[in-house]
Amino acid sequence: MYPRAALKFALLAQLASLASATYSDPKVLDACPGYQAKNVFNYGHKLTADLVLGGTACNVFGNDTEKLKLEVTYENKDRIHVKITDPATNRYEVPEEVLSRPKADLSAGPQTSNILFNYTASPFSFSVYRAKTHEVLFSTASHPIIFEPQYLRVKTNLPANANIYGLGEHSDSFRLPTHNYTRTMWSRDAYGLPQGQNLYGNHPIYFEHRTTGTHGVFLLNSNGMDIKLDDTEGTGTTLEYNVIGGVLDFYFLAGSESDPTELVRQYADVVGTPAEVPYWSFGFHQCRFGYANYIDVSQVITNYAAAGIPLETMWTDIDYMDRRRVFTVDPQYFPLNRVREIVDYLHAHDQKYILMTDPAIAYAPGEGYGTFDRGTAADVWLKAANGSSPFLGAVWPGVTVFPDWFHPMAQTFWNNEFNLFYNPVSGIDIDGVWIDMNEPASFCNYPCTDPFAQARQQNLPPPRTSSPPDPNTPIFGEAPPSVRKRASAPDHSKDNVQSPPYAIANHAGSGALSDRTAYTDARHANGLIEYDTHNLYGHMMSTTTQGAMAARRPGLKTLVITRSTFAGSGAKVGKWLGDNLSTWSQYKSSIAGILGMAGIYQVPMVGADICGFGGNTNENMCARWAMLGAFYPFMRNHADLSAISQEFYRWPTTAQAARNALDTRYRLLDYLYTAFHQAKKDGSPVLRPLWYAFPKDTNTFAIDSQFFFGPSVLISPVIDADSTSVDVYYPHELFYDFHTLAPTTGGSSVHLTNVNFTSIPVSIMGGAVLPLRTQGQYTTTALRKTDFELVVAPSLADGRAHGSLYLDDGVSVVPLMHTSVSFAYEKGRLNVQGWYGYATGVNVSRVRFANTKSAPKSVTLNGKTVAANKVAFDSSTGVLDVTLGISFKSSFVVELH
Ligand code: GLC
Repeated sequence: MYPRAALKFALLAQLASLASATYSDPKVLDACPGYQAKNVFNYGHKLTADLVLGGTACNVFGNDTEKLKLEVTYENKDRIHVKITDPATNRYEVPEEVLSRPKADLSAGPQTSNILFNYTASPFSFSVYRAKTHEVLFSTASHPIIFEPQYLRVKTNLPANANIYGLGEHSDSFRLPTHNYTRTMWSRDAYGLPQGQNLYGNHPIYFEHRTTGTHGVFLLNSNGMDIKLDDTEGTGTTLEYNVIGGVLDFYFLAGSESDPTELVRQYADVVGTPAEVPYWSFGFHQCRFGYANYIDVSQVITNYAAAGIPLETMWTDIDYMDRRRVFTVDPQYFPLNRVREIVDYLHAHDQKYILMTDPAIAYAPGEGYGTFDRGTAADVWLKAANGSSPFLGAVWPGVTVFPDWFHPMAQTFWNNEFNLFYNPVSGIDIDGVWIDMNEPASFCNYPCTDPFAQARQQNLPPPRTSSPPDPNTPIFGEAPPSVRKRASAPDHSKDNVQSPPYAIANHAGSGALSDRTAYTDARHANGLIEYDTHNLYGHMMSTTTQGAMAARRPGLKTLVITRSTFAGSGAKVGKWLGDNLSTWSQYKSSIAGILGMAGIYQVPMVGADICGFGGNTNENMCARWAMLGAFYPFMRNHADLSAISQEFYRWPTTAQAARNALDTRYRLLDYLYTAFHQAKKDGSPVLRPLWYAFPKDTNTFAIDSQFFFGPSVLISPVIDADSTSVDVYYPHELFYDFHTLAPTTGGSSVHLTNVNFTSIPVSIMGGAVLPLRTQGQYTTTALRKTDFELVVAPSLADGRAHGSLYLDDGVSVVPLMHTSVSFAYEKGRLNVQGWYGYATGVNVSRVRFANTKSAPKSVTLNGKTVAANKVAFDSSTGVLDVTLGISFKSSFVVELH
């Protein structure tokens, strides 16, 4: 036997002997030869090298690539790009059209960088460390890199009990477990959001937080992968990437030694800052699967009004469709004229309407189904392995085809469908879009054999009576242009794309990569196959749908809510967390879910299905959830087909809880809008875990039952089932009750009791000035006509406070006018300065100064004394309430003397 084969044999024997972790014994992989760095060229800002296999190949999951290319680039003072590729093969990389690569500063280099790259030539390993402190952040030492056609492995040592966050989408704790824990990246329809499993979307970015600083590592790769965190080797924590394709394309982000939110912004520099959404989309949304007909829908709208619970947007799920075919209405249950009546009614009441649009299109040759016929004529369907027939699955309408979002006509096709169906003149004038099942989900592997799947296939629609249009008539005026192929598509001819040698821990059905989704050998028009692009399907549908909506309403901000996302999706769309359950544990874990999206992945327009999707909720749970959900950026109540009705008005306690929490939310809506504007500008997080504000306080690192809504409003919901008490942690700062402004000095845990089922603890962190609307209203249109009031919440350390307000028309992508105001408070002086281009049309009714030790002798507004009857001091809470009633169109100063 040749030595190489012998080693492989020994390794495989060792692997086979491992009962549970068959492919992952670290010692086996650490025995691989790794590479040696040769021909190293160091240009200062850039380093290149050849990596040559350092010994006998270990060929664990294929043949080790003999020679690699290493390219290290200092892209700016906080970012190093490390790319390892196989120069001899055209390996798949995430296309630029999916994620355009960040620009590098020409002046960047090791002299100015906050993090530095170091390497050892033989055996090759590399590390990234902080320039100032030399603290090692990432190191592959003693873990050789493995690079094979269908297996890439990179492993780093981390400190013991490392604080790792990210690597979504998952439903696990916000701070990830570090013991025998695997995060799998492979999009799947994950009903019930099981913990420890792969879910709908993929964000291969992690943040590591230490008391000495926070940094991040992003692996730009859309292939399936397992990322393993473990602490069983006795050397602290290890983090190991096991990737089944693509290239090693790492972005190391320096983060900051003192402000974790810097890291969030640095990640936004790579994947893009998030889209701003229309102001109205922060209103409350109601949905369910199973509104039986248009009467049902209209009743929900009127019931909300009767109950006095603000309803901004009504939704309809697939129920409206004719035989669950997208871009159709059921002629009997949801006839077009009646749906249009609903939309007209909503619009006349300043409310909105949203419908579901699924990607899977009923496969209906010769049936006159326009969408299918037009897509077929334009040849936009994802293709089966043979490259010519459409790939078929089984989704809501029965047997389906799937749009190929990489097809050059995909956008045109989708725009056209949107124009035909969602047009205000003859179709349905939707205000936003809901897209789903875009993992893409398929209920079975067509042709399906399991009984459920067969039932689905039999769901084939009865033949129509009218004669179908000629499917061969071109719809775009001319034949589709010839398909734009990649110069050379990655060659997978020698790969096993159905069942690669390294099996990631996919939890769909049998675990096979193709199970319940588009098969990995399905082909895109540009030559790519699903094996590489599977994790991008939802992202591509998102950007295409956002494009279609933007084209239909030029100049207007869009609201598109998707289920599946990839790194960068937030630049175009928002997302809901998918099919959760009506359980107390999922009520709680929704916080970690939204924190991941809005705190790390740059998808801030996020919410979980309030009151839970699957299973039945109840009055208390739905009340608590209505209140927690009032602090999801995207606030929607949604239930499954078989679940009981759970609109907030169904139970008195729930109704009151919703009214109360919505009142608070709506007061904060301009503050939320401002946070989104800031996020769009620089990537600042819209939601934040406690440790973002208290990075040295180790007590905060694991907390995911409380969070900051915007930079300074702390939400501390009751967590336990049917409980009215909760242990909350207030870090070392003042926290002011949102309603009374009574301060609590933080620094310890507090046991809150008597938190009834219609209230949620909300506090303002010291150091903030908040612009609030004076009271909630039924719609956001009405809300925008109410006055502002200011709350000044001085900080513990120096009694200062500051804040900002951004306001525009709420709908335009590039508003003609905007108002941008900053608030600064110090030593009894509140300075309100800004630009007032957008006419607010309202007053600043009052300012409340919290934590005022005593009543001032006088208060002045722009130097003029405010009448004594307009100044009220409450010595029990320390709140000084100054009535202003001035038009909010110019800057002003309020002074306490
Ligand atoms: C999927 C969605 C869910 C929706 C259902 C029917 O399960 O996640 O929200 O109600 O499909 O469209």
